[in-house]
Amino acid sequence: MRASSKQRADRPVRVAIIGSGPAAFYAAEALLGQTQCPVAVDMFERLPTPYGLVRAGVAPDHQSIKAVSRRFERTAQRPGYRFFGNVTFGEHLLLSDLAQHYDQVLYGVGSAADRRLDIPGEDLAGCVHSSAFVGWYNGHPAYRDLAPDLSAERVLVVGNGNVAVDVARVLARTADELERTDIADHALERLRGSRVREIILAGRRGPLQGAFTPAELRELGRLEAADPVVSASELELDPVSASALSGASAQARRNLEILQEFSQRGAGGRGRTIRFRFLVSPVALEGNAEGRVEAVRLEHNALVRTDSGRVAARGTGQSERLAVQLVIPAIGYRAVALPGVPFDARQAVIPNREGRVLRAADSGVPLLAEYVVGWARTGPRGLIGSHKAGSEEVARRMIADAEALVGERRALAPPEAIAALLERRGAKPVAFSEWQLLDAEEVARGADRGAPRRKVVEVDQMLEVIEQKKRSDQVPEAIEQKKRSDQVPEAIEQKKRSDQVPEAIEQKKRRDG
Ligand SMILES: Cc1cc2nc3c(=O)[nH]c(=O)nc-3n(C[C@H](O)[C@H](O)[C@H](O)COP(=O)(O)OP(=O)(O)OC[C@H]3O[C@@H](n4cnc5c(N)ncnc54)[C@H](O)[C@@H]3O)c2cc1C
Ligand SMILES: NC(=O)c1ccc[n+]([C@@H]2O[C@H](COP(=O)([O-])OP(=O)(O)OC[C@H]3O[C@@H](n4cnc5c(N)ncnc54)[C@H](OP(=O)(O)O)[C@@H]3O)[C@@H](O)[C@H]2O)c1
Repeated sequence: MRASSKQRADRPVRVAIIGSGPAAFYAAEALLGQTQCPVAVDMFERLPTPYGLVRAGVAPDHQSIKAVSRRFERTAQRPGYRFFGNVTFGEHLLLSDLAQHYDQVLYGVGSAADRRLDIPGEDLAGCVHSSAFVGWYNGHPAYRDLAPDLSAERVLVVGNGNVAVDVARVLARTADELERTDIADHALERLRGSRVREIILAGRRGPLQGAFTPAELRELGRLEAADPVVSASELELDPVSASALSGASAQARRNLEILQEFSQRGAGGRGRTIRFRFLVSPVALEGNAEGRVEAVRLEHNALVRTDSGRVAARGTGQSERLAVQLVIPAIGYRAVALPGVPFDARQAVIPNREGRVLRAADSGVPLLAEYVVGWARTGPRGLIGSHKAGSEEVARRMIADAEALVGERRALAPPEAIAALLERRGAKPVAFSEWQLLDAEEVARGADRGAPRRKVVEVDQMLEVIEQKKRSDQVPEAIEQKKRSDQVPEAIEQKKRSDQVPEAIEQKKRRDG
């Protein structure tokens, strides 16, 4: 039976969003911004801080990109939105809880784990995967103690994507350049003492197959104290690439032109070098007596065209040994399975059709009321802005499904009950207004180093800062309250006095007869 519009208006559709990255926020914006059907959104984020990789991934020297968080801030001010930071799905909040509190669940948990090289030596000290290295310089609480050994003179960054470029650039920048960014204090301090001289960016395919974008590549040629170096022989196209050149994308051709321009510059003399190597794959890392990386074995590759038409790298069996002291694989990410939520281990995504979660990867059956957006849906590719359209599309489907099922709406626990549940589970949730206190404190602390902010990097410290700010904000408020309460007796006295005036007149009248 279809419900009447009166039934529809009884209460909003209650949606739990897990994660607070760009995909989650774009979805919240679309859900709260539509007028077809009232929606209330509770967003759960495992960190006390919102915005996912906008805070923990985007490089500190790319501040302008982070301005998108202002848009998300506006969404957080909308009626019907609540933020529960410092709450981990799977630990403080289970799928069975969500069924009692929400009509729909939307996963926007990103791809938190690294793809691995799966080669011998990958777990040696001195091999640090990009999620950890990036998390470390960006002040992600999970990586604050990483302390990568920057006494290394030569670093190998594996991969030819934008993350590899970010990592190479941060290593190549001077501490003075980084000081004015929001890089974590601990990273700035360590980078200040860095002895890194050479950063090798190694691609398993050729210069025409780089996944980096021209703007990011070009930036490597504009650093204060580092030069990009690529030998002309590295840029000679192999037969497969040569035949693909005429049909190559504008991005691939532009990348090649920039690399050719770098190659013509020669060695440069700024101090550090970023050296490009192509058609090589690490096949083993070798450790020294202390178990630290001291060398990598690089196999040379040839490119082949597969049956599906893809250009793939194949090892030639020829290899070289290269002394390196730090290896940073930046070869992409993988989503992590959430307890109780279907997972496609092969694709490393939550299996879905058009954002509706499927019972299993090989099942076409969508689960009722479970959805997914962002990297957890598509895999780890795409820029921040690219999630807007995808999240809006999933939000539209959620609204359509909610409308279709309006007659079957279950009775849910009252909206305030979720806070009690989280407390029972030992969570200390951070509300959006509390995050804003921490945000303001970080921004204020940045002023002494000319930085946009100085991040607090420990969860306990974040909570402490919030408590302190609340206490100090309460002082002026308490003074105001005191003033207000002092004014009450005064007002009563005044009222009494003014009431006494007519009374005095009356008395006088009575006396005067
Ligand atoms: C190093 C790096 C740099 C990048 N730089 C740029 C750039 O400069 N410009 C650009 O346009 N794009 C950049 N990108 C890409 C961009 O960051 C992604 O496209 C985007 O962040 C993906 O959004 P998402 O919401 O799917 O995931 P995320 O941003 O990863 O957000 C997922 C959120 O879910 C939370 N979460 C995970 N598990 C749980 C759980 N169990 N319970 C509660 N919360 C959970 C996480 O803490 C996180 O906050 C970069 C990516 C990386 C990796
Ligand atoms: N400034 C920015 O705008 C910015 C910054 C960072 C990230 N991002 C975006 O975030 C997304 C993720 O970036 P990403 O760099 O992690 O991923 P990516 O763009 O997919 O690049 C991954 C790189 O790793 C290589 N690779 C994968 N497996 C490998 C292996 N086993 N051995 C050697 N190399 C391997 C890939 O080579 P093949 O091509 O041969 O597979 C590719 O060069 C991208 O969309 C990116 O544009 C943007």
